Amino acid sequence: MSEKTVLTELLLRWYLSNGAKYNLSFKENNIPKEIFSEDQEIQKSTKEKKEHKKNEIFKNCKTLDELKNLILEFSDCSLKNTAKSLVFSDGNPKANVMLIGEAPGEEEDKLARPFVGSSGILLDKMLGAIGQNRKNTYLSNVIFWRPPGNRKPTPEEISLCLPFVFKHIELIRPKLLILAGAIAAKALFGSDNTGITQIRGKWKNININNKFDLRSIAIFHPSFLLKQPSRKKEAWEDLKKIKIEIDKNT
Ligand code: URA
Repeated sequence: MSEKTVLTELLLRWYLSNGAKYNLSFKENNIPKEIFSEDQEIQKSTKEKKEHKKNEIFKNCKTLDELKNLILEFSDCSLKNTAKSLVFSDGNPKANVMLIGEAPGEEEDKLARPFVGSSGILLDKMLGAIGQNRKNTYLSNVIFWRPPGNRKPTPEEISLCLPFVFKHIELIRPKLLILAGAIAAKALFGSDNTGITQIRGKWKNININNKFDLRSIAIFHPSFLLKQPSRKKEAWEDLKKIKIEIDKNT
């Protein structure tokens, strides 16, 4: 290699090791290919190692406290930067029934507890109508931090939180799962374009991390029912189905 090439290589290595990407002012075809390919390999193997470590941590996460700590340490989801609190769960972790909602709102963010605002009040009434409450039900959300201004979470935010949600369900191991609203239903059932009106009220099995299948049902989100009270009739039909299944399974 000429002196110029060696200097270029050293400079490039310095740039790459400081996080620079390809858009340097050098013309790529003037630079020996191995300079890039070697660095790409290093970056790839570092990424794979990180991924492997993350998977190992996940595999060895055996308690809710460990899971909560993993989420507290997780910095890839930017919602964390704007929220006041991590909203993890409420209710009884030994319950047979688990309910997953969408994301915390303002009140939940303030109190670090899911479903404590106006939709939480309606949710408590809905659950109460079929004999459920926070002593025999466990509550959480697909998203652990309040999205700014209560906007809908993005698909990226949902996919970042979803592995934690599956781990959460795996640790609770409920007998039945209720998905409140379109965001939770679509995220957990994996259905994209079907609306909540079509998805709700039908029992389906969800495979939880290849560990067990979980009988699950979607219902209208209480905040939707607050805006469209005429849909409470359908919500009541779904709740009756849930009550039958609770009586059978618990
Ligand atoms: N809506 C949700 O989906 N979850 C909450 O915790 C509160 C409101």
